[in-house]
Amino acid sequence: MPGVILVGAQWGDEGKGKATDLLGARVDYVVKYNGGNNAGHTVVIGGETYALHLLPSGILSPGCIPVIGNGVVIDLGVLFGEIDAIEKRGVDTSRMLVSSAAHIITQYSRTMDNVTERFLGSRKIGTTGRGIGPAYADKISRVGIRVGDLFDEELLREKVEGALEQKNHLLVKVYNRRAISVDEVVDNLLSHAPRLAPMVADTSLVLNQALDRGETVLFEGGQATMLDVDHGTYPFVTSSNATAGGACTGTGVGPTRINRVVGVLKAYTTRVGEGPMPTELLDASGERLRAVGHEYGTTTGRPRRCGWYDAVVARYANRVNGLTDFVLTKLDVLTGLEKIPVCVAYDVVGVRHEELPLDQSAFGAAVPIYEAFEGWTEDITGARTFEDLPAAAQRYVLALEAVSGCRMSVIGVGPGRDEIVVRHDLLVG
Ligand code: GDP
Ligand code: IMO
Ligand code: MG
Repeated sequence: MPGVILVGAQWGDEGKGKATDLLGARVDYVVKYNGGNNAGHTVVIGGETYALHLLPSGILSPGCIPVIGNGVVIDLGVLFGEIDAIEKRGVDTSRMLVSSAAHIITQYSRTMDNVTERFLGSRKIGTTGRGIGPAYADKISRVGIRVGDLFDEELLREKVEGALEQKNHLLVKVYNRRAISVDEVVDNLLSHAPRLAPMVADTSLVLNQALDRGETVLFEGGQATMLDVDHGTYPFVTSSNATAGGACTGTGVGPTRINRVVGVLKAYTTRVGEGPMPTELLDASGERLRAVGHEYGTTTGRPRRCGWYDAVVARYANRVNGLTDFVLTKLDVLTGLEKIPVCVAYDVVGVRHEELPLDQSAFGAAVPIYEAFEGWTEDITGARTFEDLPAAAQRYVLALEAVSGCRMSVIGVGPGRDEIVVRHDLLVG
């Protein structure tokens, strides 16, 4: 089972970090293919909690080589800060590889992120403020700085000058901010180069050669389907392809090498930042999900918006990613509810929609059509087989499976590494 993609099937924070960690001991490489330190993955191992942002979650598995692919945008200060913090806790990061084609988040990417959000006012995206959008904008505009550029000072200076020329006009004349100095940016980037050098590799070659040898590569998506710049709720999205296709463009591994595509989703829905979310609950039920599920952002600490499971979103994620399996997380959070509503379709101005409406205004007007399922009161955190779950919890999972279009292969019953029910092995068959 060599190539496996793991992708968020909702609006992020589905528990991708935990799912990656679950497989980590059995895979040879974990490669991050999109996003940057906007991601926040919490992994709990034996009571120890690790919050990862830029580092692939595979870093916590000693036998596995973590890789940052070309599709990622890297803030070097954050990268080394995270490496230092995790090394202090006894985690070995010496195996890590970084693509020389990955783009760099600079000081001006972060500045532009913050000033443009402020400028948008009520139309703001609610970004994480980490410089993600501007770094990807520079990449697409062909004025980005790549990892490989750090090793040619003359070329680097030329590129930073080119990128800053227009931005400084904008910063000073439109945003009323001070200009950013080329020297300051170049010096900062060069200061990281010696430490970065031993990690830099042709990661496309490394990963393809590993696949040739029959080794297993896990492609770990950041963010999620509904935050994908093409397939998400544009413009309230992140600036990369979080969906399965991004795993190929973001690593230089072709689609014929992918054997399995696993979508991770919660037994309910959450979202951070602005934009439509049809099943959002603004009442006590939403508060309850937030409190019991500890739904506060790993990266920004913002309270996550909470709502019931949305099967229209799940079916859409199944379609655009070509899923083979779902990992359903946080089933335990629903314990104690008398009835559990599930959104099976939308009503958009009197018309029933089984599929995601095409445009922004129709999606914004979508009203969930719910079917309610019976809840359970038994503690399920000790369940390790499907049969261990109370009958009502089993029926809830089977009902989700029936309306979501793909089998629910793994079920999360708690945050811990072993708090899991495996119905189908994600790496076999
Ligand atoms: P990611 O960004 O997709 O990796 O997800 P986050 O780490 O941002 O958020 C998921 C949160 O849910 C983390 O705090 C996990 O420890 C936690 N979590 C994951 N799976 C489960 C589960 O099955 N039950 C419970 N209670 N918590 C879980
Ligand atoms: P993980 O990998 C949840 C959201 C932000 C904002 C939008 C754009 O932990 O699931 P950006 O800073 O990327 O330009 O912000 O995307 N967002 C996330 N929401 N989980 C994430 O990552 C996210 N990464 C970005 O809140 O709405
Ligand atoms: Mg997260």
